[in-house]
Amino acid sequence: MSGSIFGTRFQISTWGESHGKALGVTIDGCPAGLFLSEEDVQKELDRRRPGQNPFGTMRQEADTVTILSGVFEGRTTGTPIAMIVYNKDHHSTDYGNLATCFRPGHADYTFTKKYGFRDYRGGGRSSGRETLSRVAAGAVAKKLLQEMGISLLAYTSQIGPICCETFLEEEIKKNPLCMPDAVAYEKAATFLEQCKKDQNSAGGVVCCRVDGVPAGLGAPVFEKLDALLAQAMLSIGAVKGFEMGDGFAASCSTGFENNDFFTAVNGTIQKETNHSGGVLGGISDGSPLFFRVAFKPTPSIAKAQPTVDETGSPLSLSIHGRHDPTVVPRAVVVVEAMAALVLVDLLMENATSSMDRLLAAYGK
Ligand SMILES: Cc1cc2nc3c(=O)[nH]c(=O)nc-3n(C[C@H](O)[C@H](O)[C@H](O)COP(=O)(O)O)c2cc1C
Repeated sequence: MSGSIFGTRFQISTWGESHGKALGVTIDGCPAGLFLSEEDVQKELDRRRPGQNPFGTMRQEADTVTILSGVFEGRTTGTPIAMIVYNKDHHSTDYGNLATCFRPGHADYTFTKKYGFRDYRGGGRSSGRETLSRVAAGAVAKKLLQEMGISLLAYTSQIGPICCETFLEEEIKKNPLCMPDAVAYEKAATFLEQCKKDQNSAGGVVCCRVDGVPAGLGAPVFEKLDALLAQAMLSIGAVKGFEMGDGFAASCSTGFENNDFFTAVNGTIQKETNHSGGVLGGISDGSPLFFRVAFKPTPSIAKAQPTVDETGSPLSLSIHGRHDPTVVPRAVVVVEAMAALVLVDLLMENATSSMDRLLAAYGK
């Protein structure tokens, strides 16, 4: 099975199954000399960990990371960085009819059609648990970005039909749904409580803003910055939509409304607005990056759903146990991680994009 490698210069390879022995990631291409500790990675993994909020699954997985290689005396050595997280309970139990039936909204049917058989324990490789490896790699990418003065901030802007109407950054850390609007949070909490009672689930939207991105990241054809971000986001389980800047709303405005006019302030050229979300022609324009990611409702629900087994026999399926009524708050850190990975990769590419930069790298 191919397709577990992401990035070209700062390249990550993720591995492991939801209920296998462990999951992990290897990073190839991280520059030497970056200060890195297990705590740096752990604090990001803790943001993704289940069992932390009343809306999440009640399972308590410690998800403790160990750095196996690539770090010596607290700094990266330039060699591959391997990180591992052991699954606490990887012993197979009785999975009942989940082993043979096709869960609606999951990859069971398509995976079986493609590969002939599947690891039915918690979705195997298709599980949301795979995002743990991305978050671990993203923690390293974020440390590198921090050195470059680049910061990422993702948050939940919508749960089901409840949208944030105000933005207060300090609110994001105050509530378990990571919403910047306290009033919207209260409404979303009530909505999710009702979802739980109905044995149902909800989707939502994560917004991400990146500050400090220099102009020049991305290339004009296949490696457009917005195209790479879209691929990164749409590779996260349950993601169904991506919008850069004004996104779909831009299709309803006129050219005069949508264009960001240039101006020069004290000799520095900048834009008066940022409808483009910080990308023009696939290349970052020096203003903050802004994009939105839409998540579908958690597919595993306790409410009875009609489906069939592998022989085509109909059955009624209720999925009980450890599932979030929404995956959105846990996905906030995954969105940041994937964006960080894209940006580090492009920063490295941009360092050799012109003769001037190449000569500067060698002090010529
Ligand atoms: C962080 C995260 C956690 C997830 N947790 C669950 C979960 O507990 N239960 C579930 O049914 N789906 C969960 N998902 C979503 C499924 O993995 C995903 O919907 C499924 O594999 C089908 O893929 P698709 O929605 O991209 O088509 C999670 C996704 C993410 C990003």
